[in-house]
Amino acid sequence: MKHINEYIRHAAFQKRIVPGFNVFGYEDSLAIVRAAEQANAPILLMVNRDARRVMNIRHWGALLSSIANQARVPVGVHLDHCTELKSIQLAIENGFSSVMYDGSKLPLNENIANTHQVVCLAREKGVAVEGEVGAVPYDDLGETSSEMTSPEEAWQFCQESHADWLAVSVGNIHRLHAGKAKLDFTRLESIESLCQIPLVIHGASGISSVDIKKIKEHQVAKVNIGTALRRAFGETLRQSVQENPAVYDRLTLFEKPAQQLEKVAYEIICQLK
Ligand code: G3H
Ligand code: ZN
Repeated sequence: MKHINEYIRHAAFQKRIVPGFNVFGYEDSLAIVRAAEQANAPILLMVNRDARRVMNIRHWGALLSSIANQARVPVGVHLDHCTELKSIQLAIENGFSSVMYDGSKLPLNENIANTHQVVCLAREKGVAVEGEVGAVPYDDLGETSSEMTSPEEAWQFCQESHADWLAVSVGNIHRLHAGKAKLDFTRLESIESLCQIPLVIHGASGISSVDIKKIKEHQVAKVNIGTALRRAFGETLRQSVQENPAVYDRLTLFEKPAQQLEKVAYEIICQLK
């Protein structure tokens, strides 16, 4: 079976996209892997800041790498949006296959220097590094104006940081509902004409299926999805709780939400592969 990072390298030039899903426990992680196996497609399980707040990186690394190792498709374990080098070092030592150093809020030179430091730590362990230039805003934090990626800055970043993948801000916004994002394809084209590495689009829950088809034609190799699955799980859970007031067992209450999440993940994976 090909290594997940190899899939992503090739996907950039093969009109395929590997989805990275934010996960918050074993129920959603297993449901996503089941969906990936059913679709026979590679995926990444991603640990974001919220997930790291409730469980430490060592536990996440052990849990997710065990799930990934037993999957019948390539599954990556990814550290999402991380600004601390210490946490990145821990992830590299604990089974993560890729890490994101998020220097998007820093001046470009600092972002490049820190990302390069992460690349030096990660390379010898075969861990891929995702960097970001420009900043993808968060709708839930009221960040409306997007700091779009400058193609020239992206080029300089790629040349000097040696990151493996580049997250770009081209109208994509975190935590939107489907179809709400307006992507700037001209900017995406300018970036890919200068940068030869796989590109990453965050906030993919907000991208319409029409635009998903379009970005497959581009150098985008990975998209990040969180909100769409969190909604599927949370809304089904709320309904289950309301319909079954006598049930208090977590395992029973989580059954239907995990099934609904699996269904939504399967649809997303099939759209992207
Ligand atoms: O890094 C995580 C993602 O960019 C998820 O974004 O929750 O808007 O799908 P989303
Ligand atoms: Zn993101």
